[in-house]
Amino acid sequence: MDNPIVNTMWDQSKEILSLVVEFKELMMMYKCAIKEIKTKFEVLDTEFKIRYQRNPINFINTRLKCTTSIIKKMTRKNIPFTLENIEKYIHDVAGVRVICSYVDDIYSIAEALIKQDDIKLITKKDYIAHPKSNGYRSLHLIISVPVYFAEQKKNMKVEVQIRTIAMDSWASLEHQLRYKQQIANGEEIAEHLKECAELISDIDSRMLDIRTKIEANSSDPTE
Ligand code: GTP
Ligand code: MG
Repeated sequence: MDNPIVNTMWDQSKEILSLVVEFKELMMMYKCAIKEIKTKFEVLDTEFKIRYQRNPINFINTRLKCTTSIIKKMTRKNIPFTLENIEKYIHDVAGVRVICSYVDDIYSIAEALIKQDDIKLITKKDYIAHPKSNGYRSLHLIISVPVYFAEQKKNMKVEVQIRTIAMDSWASLEHQLRYKQQIANGEEIAEHLKECAELISDIDSRMLDIRTKIEANSSDPTE
Protein backbone atom coordinates (compact mmCIF):
# COMPACT_ATOMS: atom_id res chain seq x y z
CA MET A 1 0.00 0.00 0.00
CA ASP A 2 1.56 3.29 -1.01
CA ASN A 3 -1.51 5.52 -0.82
CA PRO A 4 -0.63 8.00 1.97
CA ILE A 5 -4.28 8.58 2.93
CA VAL A 6 -4.97 4.86 3.25
CA ASN A 7 -1.73 4.45 5.19
CA THR A 8 -2.70 7.19 7.65
CA MET A 9 -6.16 5.72 8.13
CA TRP A 10 -4.65 2.29 8.68
CA ASP A 11 -2.23 3.69 11.29
CA GLN A 12 -5.05 5.54 13.06
CA SER A 13 -7.23 2.42 13.16
CA LYS A 14 -4.36 0.44 14.65
CA GLU A 15 -3.86 3.15 17.29
CA ILE A 16 -7.58 3.18 18.21
CA LEU A 17 -7.70 -0.60 18.36
CA SER A 18 -4.67 -0.73 20.62
CA LEU A 19 -6.22 1.94 22.92
CA VAL A 20 -9.43 -0.11 23.12
CA VAL A 21 -7.48 -3.25 24.03
CA GLU A 22 -5.43 -1.41 26.68
CA PHE A 23 -8.59 0.25 28.07
CA LYS A 24 -10.28 -3.15 28.41
CA GLU A 25 -7.20 -4.47 30.18
CA LEU A 26 -7.22 -1.51 32.60
CA MET A 27 -10.92 -2.10 33.37
CA MET A 28 -10.14 -5.78 34.03
CA MET A 29 -7.50 -4.62 36.54
CA TYR A 30 -10.02 -2.37 38.33
CA LYS A 31 -12.46 -5.31 38.43
CA CYS A 32 -9.79 -7.40 40.14
CA ALA A 33 -9.07 -4.60 42.63
CA ILE A 34 -12.78 -4.61 43.51
CA LYS A 35 -12.58 -8.37 44.15
CA GLU A 36 -9.55 -7.90 46.44
CA ILE A 37 -11.28 -5.23 48.53
CA LYS A 38 -14.60 -7.06 48.66
CA THR A 39 -12.79 -10.16 49.92
CA LYS A 40 -10.97 -8.13 52.58
CA PHE A 41 -14.31 -6.84 53.89
CA GLU A 42 -15.83 -10.34 53.80
CA VAL A 43 -12.89 -11.66 55.81
CA LEU A 44 -13.32 -8.90 58.41
CA ASP A 45 -17.05 -9.62 58.61
CA THR A 46 -16.41 -13.33 59.17
CA GLU A 47 -13.85 -12.59 61.88
CA PHE A 48 -16.17 -10.12 63.67
CA LYS A 49 -18.96 -12.68 63.57
CA ILE A 50 -16.86 -15.20 65.51
CA ARG A 51 -15.43 -12.61 67.88
CA TYR A 52 -18.59 -10.65 68.69
CA GLN A 53 -21.40 -13.03 67.63
CA ARG A 54 -22.82 -10.60 65.08
CA ASN A 55 -22.08 -9.39 61.57
CA PRO A 56 -21.01 -5.75 61.29
CA ILE A 57 -21.60 -5.78 57.53
CA ASN A 58 -25.11 -6.07 56.15
CA PHE A 59 -24.17 -6.19 52.51
CA ILE A 60 -21.56 -5.07 50.02
CA ASN A 61 -22.27 -3.50 46.63
CA THR A 62 -19.62 -3.10 43.99
CA ARG A 63 -19.56 -1.27 40.70
CA LEU A 64 -17.17 -0.56 37.88
CA LYS A 65 -17.68 2.92 36.44
CA CYS A 66 -18.99 2.62 32.90
CA THR A 67 -17.00 3.96 29.97
CA THR A 68 -19.52 6.73 29.26
CA SER A 69 -19.35 7.98 32.87
CA ILE A 70 -15.55 7.95 32.77
CA ILE A 71 -15.53 9.97 29.54
CA LYS A 72 -18.19 12.40 30.87
CA LYS A 73 -16.27 12.98 34.10
CA MET A 74 -12.99 13.58 32.26
CA THR A 75 -14.67 15.97 29.83
CA ARG A 76 -16.31 17.84 32.73
CA LYS A 77 -12.96 18.16 34.48
CA ASN A 78 -11.12 19.06 31.25
CA ILE A 79 -8.83 16.05 31.51
CA PRO A 80 -7.56 14.58 28.20
CA PHE A 81 -8.70 10.99 27.71
CA THR A 82 -5.61 8.83 28.22
CA LEU A 83 -5.21 5.67 30.28
CA GLU A 84 -2.56 7.38 32.43
CA ASN A 85 -5.01 10.19 33.22
CA ILE A 86 -7.77 7.74 34.17
CA GLU A 87 -5.43 6.14 36.70
CA LYS A 88 -4.10 9.46 37.95
CA TYR A 89 -7.26 11.57 38.17
CA ILE A 90 -10.34 9.32 38.29
CA HIS A 91 -10.44 7.83 41.76
CA ASP A 92 -13.83 6.15 41.51
CA VAL A 93 -13.48 3.77 38.56
CA ALA A 94 -13.62 0.92 41.07
CA GLY A 95 -16.30 1.40 43.73
CA VAL A 96 -17.11 -0.66 46.80
CA ARG A 97 -20.03 0.31 49.04
CA VAL A 98 -20.24 -1.36 52.43
CA ILE A 99 -23.49 -1.20 54.36
CA CYS A 100 -23.06 -1.66 58.10
CA SER A 101 -25.53 -2.33 60.88
CA TYR A 102 -24.31 0.35 63.31
CA VAL A 103 -22.31 3.57 63.14
CA ASP A 104 -19.44 2.21 65.27
CA ASP A 105 -19.08 -0.72 62.83
CA ILE A 106 -18.26 1.79 60.08
CA TYR A 107 -15.20 3.06 61.93
CA SER A 108 -14.15 -0.41 63.14
CA ILE A 109 -14.08 -1.95 59.69
CA ALA A 110 -12.56 1.15 58.07
CA GLU A 111 -9.75 1.13 60.62
CA ALA A 112 -9.23 -2.62 60.23
CA LEU A 113 -8.91 -2.19 56.46
CA ILE A 114 -6.64 0.86 56.52
CA LYS A 115 -4.15 -0.73 58.93
CA GLN A 116 -3.52 -3.70 56.62
CA ASP A 117 0.07 -3.68 55.31
CA ASP A 118 -0.83 -3.66 51.65
CA ILE A 119 -3.47 -0.92 51.83
CA LYS A 120 -2.47 2.67 51.24
CA LEU A 121 -4.94 5.33 52.31
CA ILE A 122 -5.04 8.14 49.77
CA THR A 123 -7.93 10.24 51.09
CA LYS A 124 -10.53 9.96 53.81
CA LYS A 125 -13.70 12.07 53.94
CA ASP A 126 -15.80 11.69 57.04
CA TYR A 127 -19.26 12.86 56.04
CA ILE A 128 -20.61 11.33 59.29
CA ALA A 129 -18.66 13.58 61.63
CA HIS A 130 -19.08 16.39 59.07
CA PRO A 131 -22.26 15.77 57.04
CA LYS A 132 -22.63 17.51 53.68
CA SER A 133 -24.85 20.61 53.70
CA ASN A 134 -27.73 18.58 52.19
CA GLY A 135 -27.54 16.04 55.07
CA TYR A 136 -25.57 13.32 53.25
CA ARG A 137 -23.69 11.02 55.62
CA SER A 138 -21.14 8.33 54.80
CA LEU A 139 -17.46 7.56 55.31
CA HIS A 140 -15.49 7.80 52.07
CA LEU A 141 -12.04 6.34 51.53
CA ILE A 142 -9.86 6.35 48.47
CA ILE A 143 -7.37 3.56 48.91
CA SER A 144 -4.78 1.84 46.80
CA VAL A 145 -4.39 -1.94 46.80
CA PRO A 146 -1.74 -4.05 45.05
CA VAL A 147 -3.15 -6.61 42.64
CA TYR A 148 -0.93 -9.46 41.45
CA PHE A 149 -1.26 -10.42 37.79
CA ALA A 150 0.71 -13.06 35.86
CA GLU A 151 3.43 -10.65 34.76
CA GLN A 152 3.14 -7.71 37.10
CA LYS A 153 1.95 -6.24 40.36
CA LYS A 154 -0.20 -3.13 40.00
CA ASN A 155 -1.40 -0.70 42.64
CA MET A 156 -5.04 0.09 41.90
CA LYS A 157 -7.23 2.82 43.39
CA VAL A 158 -10.61 1.94 44.83
CA GLU A 159 -13.31 4.25 46.20
CA VAL A 160 -14.89 2.81 49.34
CA GLN A 161 -18.10 4.21 50.79
CA ILE A 162 -19.10 2.89 54.20
CA ARG A 163 -22.47 3.77 55.73
CA THR A 164 -25.32 2.38 57.81
CA ILE A 165 -28.53 0.89 56.39
CA ALA A 166 -30.35 4.11 57.36
CA MET A 167 -27.75 6.38 55.71
CA ASP A 168 -27.88 4.20 52.62
CA SER A 169 -31.65 4.36 52.28
CA TRP A 170 -31.54 8.17 52.64
CA ALA A 171 -28.75 8.45 50.02
CA SER A 172 -30.62 6.21 47.55
CA LEU A 173 -33.85 8.19 47.84
CA GLU A 174 -32.05 11.53 47.76
CA HIS A 175 -30.22 10.42 44.63
CA GLN A 176 -33.54 9.56 42.94
CA LEU A 177 -35.20 12.78 44.09
CA ARG A 178 -32.30 15.06 43.14
CA TYR A 179 -33.29 14.99 39.48
CA LYS A 180 -36.91 15.82 40.26
CA GLN A 181 -36.48 18.48 42.94
CA GLN A 182 -35.25 21.15 40.49
CA ILE A 183 -38.76 21.26 39.04
CA ALA A 184 -40.54 23.11 41.85
CA ASN A 185 -40.12 24.07 45.55
CA GLY A 186 -36.46 23.07 45.29
CA GLU A 187 -35.35 24.80 48.49
CA GLU A 188 -38.29 23.56 50.56
CA ILE A 189 -37.74 19.98 49.44
CA ALA A 190 -34.01 20.25 50.15
CA GLU A 191 -34.86 21.43 53.69
CA HIS A 192 -37.25 18.47 54.19
CA LEU A 193 -34.60 16.05 52.93
CA LYS A 194 -32.07 17.50 55.37
CA GLU A 195 -34.55 17.09 58.23
CA CYS A 196 -35.04 13.44 57.21
CA ALA A 197 -31.26 12.95 57.23
CA GLU A 198 -31.13 14.30 60.78
CA LEU A 199 -34.02 12.07 61.93
CA ILE A 200 -32.29 9.08 60.39
CA SER A 201 -29.03 9.98 62.10
CA ASP A 202 -30.89 10.20 65.42
CA ILE A 203 -32.34 6.72 64.84
CA ASP A 204 -28.84 5.38 64.11
CA SER A 205 -27.58 6.81 67.44
CA ARG A 206 -30.53 5.35 69.35
CA MET A 207 -30.11 1.91 67.80
CA LEU A 208 -26.44 1.97 68.76
CA ASP A 209 -27.40 2.98 72.33
CA ILE A 210 -29.85 0.07 72.52
CA ARG A 211 -27.21 -2.39 71.31
CA THR A 212 -24.63 -1.02 73.74
CA LYS A 213 -27.09 -1.42 76.63
CA ILE A 214 -27.96 -4.98 75.63
CA GLU A 215 -24.27 -5.88 75.35
CA ALA A 216 -23.53 -4.32 78.75
CA ASN A 217 -26.35 -6.36 80.35
CA SER A 218 -25.42 -9.63 78.70
CA SER A 219 -21.79 -9.35 79.85
CA ASP A 220 -22.87 -8.65 83.42
CA PRO A 221 -21.16 -11.42 85.47
CA THR A 222 -23.88 -11.27 88.16
CA GLU A 223 -26.48 -12.47 85.68
P1 GTP B 1 -17.09 12.82 42.45
O1 GTP B 1 -18.50 13.20 42.88
O2 GTP B 1 -16.99 11.36 42.17
O3 GTP B 1 -16.57 13.66 41.34
O4 GTP B 1 -16.08 13.10 43.62
P2 GTP B 1 -16.12 14.02 44.88
O5 GTP B 1 -14.76 14.53 45.13
O6 GTP B 1 -17.24 14.99 44.84
O7 GTP B 1 -16.35 12.90 45.92
P3 GTP B 1 -17.27 12.65 47.18
O8 GTP B 1 -16.43 11.74 48.01
O9 GTP B 1 -17.79 13.89 47.81
O10 GTP B 1 -18.53 11.87 46.56
C1 GTP B 1 -18.33 10.72 45.79
C2 GTP B 1 -19.58 9.88 45.73
O11 GTP B 1 -20.29 9.87 46.98
C3 GTP B 1 -20.63 10.28 44.72
O12 GTP B 1 -20.31 9.80 43.45
C4 GTP B 1 -21.89 9.61 45.31
O13 GTP B 1 -21.89 8.22 45.07
C5 GTP B 1 -21.68 9.81 46.79
N1 GTP B 1 -22.26 11.11 47.22
C6 GTP B 1 -21.59 12.22 47.54
N2 GTP B 1 -22.42 13.21 47.89
C7 GTP B 1 -23.67 12.71 47.81
C8 GTP B 1 -24.99 13.26 48.05
O14 GTP B 1 -25.16 14.41 48.41
N3 GTP B 1 -26.04 12.42 47.86
C9 GTP B 1 -25.89 11.12 47.47
N4 GTP B 1 -26.99 10.39 47.30
N5 GTP B 1 -24.68 10.59 47.22
C10 GTP B 1 -23.58 11.36 47.38
MG1 MG C 1 -18.24 9.37 41.92
